[in-house]
Amino acid sequence: MNVIKNSSDLRLNIEQLKTRGTTIGFVPTMGYLHEGHLTLAKEARENNEIVVMSIFVNPLQFGPNEDFDHYPRDVDRDTELARMAGVDILFIPEASDVYRGKQSVTMSVKERVDVLCGRKREGHFDGVVTVLTKLFHLVQPTRAYFGQKDAQQVAVVEGLVSDYFFPLEIVSVPTVREEDGLAKSSRNVYLSHEERVEAPFLYRSLKEARESIELGERNPSVITGEISVDIQEHTSGTIDYVEVYSYPELEKLDRLKGDIILAIAVQFQQARLIDNIIISVESKEDSNV
Ligand code: PAF
Repeated sequence: MNVIKNSSDLRLNIEQLKTRGTTIGFVPTMGYLHEGHLTLAKEARENNEIVVMSIFVNPLQFGPNEDFDHYPRDVDRDTELARMAGVDILFIPEASDVYRGKQSVTMSVKERVDVLCGRKREGHFDGVVTVLTKLFHLVQPTRAYFGQKDAQQVAVVEGLVSDYFFPLEIVSVPTVREEDGLAKSSRNVYLSHEERVEAPFLYRSLKEARESIELGERNPSVITGEISVDIQEHTSGTIDYVEVYSYPELEKLDRLKGDIILAIAVQFQQARLIDNIIISVESKEDSNV
């Protein structure tokens, strides 16, 4: 594995690969790698000749109340994990290399941001698309890999790639789950024993809502109501949101139709958990249900 610490060296390497027509799978990360990242690397490994992973804690996507300085970092451990996951190039740039002096152009996301987790994270997705634009230009990937767990990020990045004609494919990789269905997250360790027993109900409530939809329910409020009741009855967590939108547009729906996302965020004592499922809903007229 080649560890590259500056953008000029990366450019040289990528140019050589591109002249040879090599396919490049790209996994952008902020480091402190966990199983979710390694699953993305595995997917990239299976479908591309070269895998590039970046580790960059992007200051621009942290709000004033979000602790950029205390974001966990462990480059030595990450380097070892990336090597074991079959990464070919690990790119670990300095902030001064990615953001060279004053930026003369800034990026601002207009759609898909004022919902779900984005509602409370003003400017967060502006930072995400800014850094990804830079990284996509540097890495020139054939495919870039993101976890479906952060479905809003995937939707925003799909908007970026489509609006600005980035010549790459976004691959959304299904959420990795524990055996009992709980979405894997580094935050799960902060759950108390009782909360850990309750937490799988988050996914269970989403699956039950999916069943209701399969049985013909098309009213978004009925679905979000069912999920909320389920979570309140079975967990001690406080619901932050239970929402349903079209996907990836993240627009409000009067009736459920087409590709939709059911998404939840629940605050437990020391951990805020999020989960979602994306499903394709036939209209009742189409299916004669
Ligand atoms: O999901 C993340 O870790 C970050 O938002 C990303 C995509 C690496 C951009 O900094």
